[in-house]
Amino acid sequence: MHGMSDLGKVYVRTFGCQMNVYDTEKIYAFLQDRYVPAASEEEADLIILNTCSIREKAEQKVYSLLGRIKPLKETNPGILVGVGGCVAQQEGEKIMKRSPLVDLVFGTHNLDELPALLDERIHSGKKVCRVIGDSDSVPTAEAPRVPGRAGPASLLTIMKGCDNWCSYCVVPLVRGREISRPAGRILDEASDLIQRGVRELTLLGQNVNSYRDPGSGSGFVELLRKIDALPGLKRLRFVTSHPKDFSRELACAMAELPRVCEHIHLPVQAGSDTVLTAMRRGYSASRYLEKVRLLRSLIPEVEFTTDIIVGFPGETRQDFQRTLELIREVRYQNAFSFRFSPRPGTAASEMDDPVKDSEKKSWLPELQAVQNLITAEKHQDMVGRVVEILVEGFDRKRSGLLEGRTRTNYIVHFQGDPSLVGQIVTVRVTRSRSIHLEGEMPV
Ligand code: 5AD
Ligand code: SF4
Repeated sequence: MHGMSDLGKVYVRTFGCQMNVYDTEKIYAFLQDRYVPAASEEEADLIILNTCSIREKAEQKVYSLLGRIKPLKETNPGILVGVGGCVAQQEGEKIMKRSPLVDLVFGTHNLDELPALLDERIHSGKKVCRVIGDSDSVPTAEAPRVPGRAGPASLLTIMKGCDNWCSYCVVPLVRGREISRPAGRILDEASDLIQRGVRELTLLGQNVNSYRDPGSGSGFVELLRKIDALPGLKRLRFVTSHPKDFSRELACAMAELPRVCEHIHLPVQAGSDTVLTAMRRGYSASRYLEKVRLLRSLIPEVEFTTDIIVGFPGETRQDFQRTLELIREVRYQNAFSFRFSPRPGTAASEMDDPVKDSEKKSWLPELQAVQNLITAEKHQDMVGRVVEILVEGFDRKRSGLLEGRTRTNYIVHFQGDPSLVGQIVTVRVTRSRSIHLEGEMPV
């Protein structure tokens, strides 16, 4: 374990949708080298509001909570306050203007940069705002905006909660049982979003494969077919799929449905069967790999991303090596990897761990080095190809560049007219970078 004394405490307040619960877990994981979770805002050195704009009145809730944090910060000016999530994604710097106590604003695609952004805030003394895909570097009049939405790609929650009780996971405790939204409501919302300019939908749920329409009892594949058929929609994605529930039927639907993209996030968590059993994941590594092979046989260009936990209680070096073998076999486009952290109330937080922390310490960077190499090779393979991307917004770092994504989930930056936001364009990939590709439009 860490020496607790040198670590600060972070409290992440989660608003709204399912995705945020998921993102909150990621925020804790990305910060775990410096902060341990606090029980409340009152005892935290870093307070993060993980906001959600899918729910009604989310914005007011955020500002009213900021109002309640104000006295805390007045008594202890050392407290840092960050705002992330969907409201941050949409509002960007406006949040800091309206609420001067906010130190840091970060978008939904910037979670992995949090430690670096906090460093920047601490060392520069200036407030920091980092939102990928916002448009404040170009005149807004030129940028077609979807009213009330962040851009041409939108999230749509189809279910909440989780009944899986993976032994490390706090989601079932905080979100309770699985509840699916009525298919009719989802379809209405999807149509409405498309009408307002959304071109790509990502269906959200902790475990989308166990979606059931409460009225008819029909499942996820049927919902996917219905949404795929909506006129005006160009692309369809969904997260998260639990590998144990990922069916042949769904694989076939992905291959067959024209709008469903050739990318799947399939969290494997570990490559050792002993660890997978202790995690209560309900599949073995070989069953997982069978599903990967099935998808590749049906959709040759499909790309996989995953989540991995390293250093689960009792995990040995041998177990860990199985995870390395698995990532080499699957060749993920990208992997979100986390060191195991005991979350209060979970079964895994009670498990003994005979394996020393000093032994495990190097595993996460080791795994990340292996994955980074695979990602780099995959990016390099893309150079020279002509790809179709949906232009989602702007690259904030180098103002003027547009940012889009291939159906297979590669991010591409390129020079182009802001009016292209929301359109599907063809670009040639010219250069590979660590997290994105660079491209150009043919003249
Ligand atoms: N420790 C480390 N990582 C965790 N995750 C969930 N719970 C924990 C935990 N206790 C990771 C899983 C999950 C992702 C959202 O966060 O990999 O898929
Ligand atoms: Fe947590 Fe497992 Fe449910 Fe995912 S499937 S939310 S990891 S309990």
